[in-house]
Amino acid sequence: MALRPLAHGLTRFGPGPGLRPPDIRGVFPMNAPVRTKATADTGDSRRHDLLATLNLPRYVLLPGDPDRVKVMAEQWQEAHVVDLPRGYRAAVGSYGGVHIGAVSTSIGAPSLEIILHDLFRLGIDTFIRVGTTGALRDDIKTGSLIINDASVRLDGTTNLYVRPEYPAAASHEVTFALADAAATLGHDYRVGTGATSGSFLAGQGRPGVNGHKSLEGERIFEEMKRAEVLNFEMETAALFTLARLSGLRAGSVCSVIANRMTGEWGDNGGILRACQTGAEAIRRLTLWDKRKTSEGVASLTAATVSPLGQA
Ligand code: URA
Repeated sequence: MALRPLAHGLTRFGPGPGLRPPDIRGVFPMNAPVRTKATADTGDSRRHDLLATLNLPRYVLLPGDPDRVKVMAEQWQEAHVVDLPRGYRAAVGSYGGVHIGAVSTSIGAPSLEIILHDLFRLGIDTFIRVGTTGALRDDIKTGSLIINDASVRLDGTTNLYVRPEYPAAASHEVTFALADAAATLGHDYRVGTGATSGSFLAGQGRPGVNGHKSLEGERIFEEMKRAEVLNFEMETAALFTLARLSGLRAGSVCSVIANRMTGEWGDNGGILRACQTGAEAIRRLTLWDKRKTSEGVASLTAATVSPLGQA
């Protein structure tokens, strides 16, 4: 699909100028008013200011790779994409009748921390990481999905926030929305514990820079396998921890691009499936939250989610 440039670096996907996007204001919750003024406390307020112009919804998908924001936007009915300073990218649009957003986090916990700080200040309260991962079990195929409901905190960054015993746990609502979306779409998926490393190579038991063999990395790799950890990736534990410390909801779905037991690499359509699962999870959460509000219940129950068609 061709991208048409708009003002301020915005790019429009979806129908041409004659076709108006669906008016979803008033139907779906929009983001809360900006809680604090943009300051230079992360050294650059331009990113926050640009994000503030997008009118992002409460629910945001978080891919690591900025190119995946475009892959997501292609799956939506309407999308605006904006490039942000330092290689971050954001999109806002509509999917299945709900307001949806995506913002790239780049690689690892420190860059996720910076963009999350901006998003928290914009009042966004539900985050879904849509990433890629390496599986630690030989029966998990490349192209399949892993939904982590918890992740071992080997990211480095979160130890500077809270003691290591504090759990990196997902929101049960977001996890259920992801599992329900993946199951309904017919995707092959697992739910379980992952491990989030501050390193792609040595920290995940691979030979490091210049072939360096880290004893610590090899030990961690063996320990994670023995602990029934499903996968290694680089952002989930930081997202879960920072969201939980702030009282916000987070979940994670990753496509398996490497199998660490068999040595296999490959996408096999998994990235597209993860993006689709994330969007479907946001659609569910939007409808379920609406129902929770109308029924005055604080958290998701079986009555909230069924049947979805009447939400
Ligand atoms: N991302 C990771 O962090 N590790 C992998 O093996 C694949 C993707």
